[in-house]
Amino acid sequence: MWHLRLWEFQDVAVVLSVGFYLCHLAGALSIYCPQRSLSRSIQEDVLFSVNVSCSGVPAFHWMFVSAAVSRSIGAWQPGTDANVSEDYSSRVQTYGNGSLGLSNLRLQDAGYYVLTVTEEGGRSKDSGLVLTVNEVLYEDLQYLTVSALALAAIAGLLMLAMWLLDKAYRKISAWRSRREVEERATEMQHL
Ligand SMILES: *[C@@H]1O[C@H](CO)[C@@H](O)[C@H](O)[C@H]1NC(C)=O
Ligand SMILES: *[C@@H]1O[C@H](CO)[C@@H](O)[C@H](O)[C@H]1NC(C)=O
Repeated sequence: MWHLRLWEFQDVAVVLSVGFYLCHLAGALSIYCPQRSLSRSIQEDVLFSVNVSCSGVPAFHWMFVSAAVSRSIGAWQPGTDANVSEDYSSRVQTYGNGSLGLSNLRLQDAGYYVLTVTEEGGRSKDSGLVLTVNEVLYEDLQYLTVSALALAAIAGLLMLAMWLLDKAYRKISAWRSRREVEERATEMQHL
């Protein structure tokens, strides 16, 4: 009799824990993020692409974190207007799946972007992405400056060569006409 009761108790416990586990799986809060490390150039756009699975309607909150600052970018729920902080209002695009688009990148945008997803029940989870911003345009400018300097140097050399040639030509023709005059003078003397 006691034996049987113990077994029943164990069965119930197993069923309960399996049930809890399945519920937990079904409602598991997870953030899928295909690319965690992104690299863009100044003035380009970036999409921090994520997809969230959770129970109920999630709330998204994006933060920017660098060595110097940590600031809130925006908070929203799918299907509602996003509450975007003033610093970002003109450059931010928000999506129902939690993704965040940032346009016209600046050097100061380089750093960590942290998404916090909060479920209706209050559970929450974070996910972080890294953005690198490259100064390609600046390097292009440097390249252009160097090319312009090289062209200017070549033009200067050409002008110097032309000036020297011109001077030499003038000297030679002056010397020639002097010689002609002298030759004529000696011819006259002979006559
Ligand atoms: C999230 O939605 C945006 C806009 O519809 C889409 O471009 C992006 O690929 C989505 N992200 C994922 C991981 O599905
Ligand atoms: C959302 O708006 C409130 C004011 O209505 C503000 O205090 C809060 O910081 C904003 N949150 C974000 C993430 O911008």
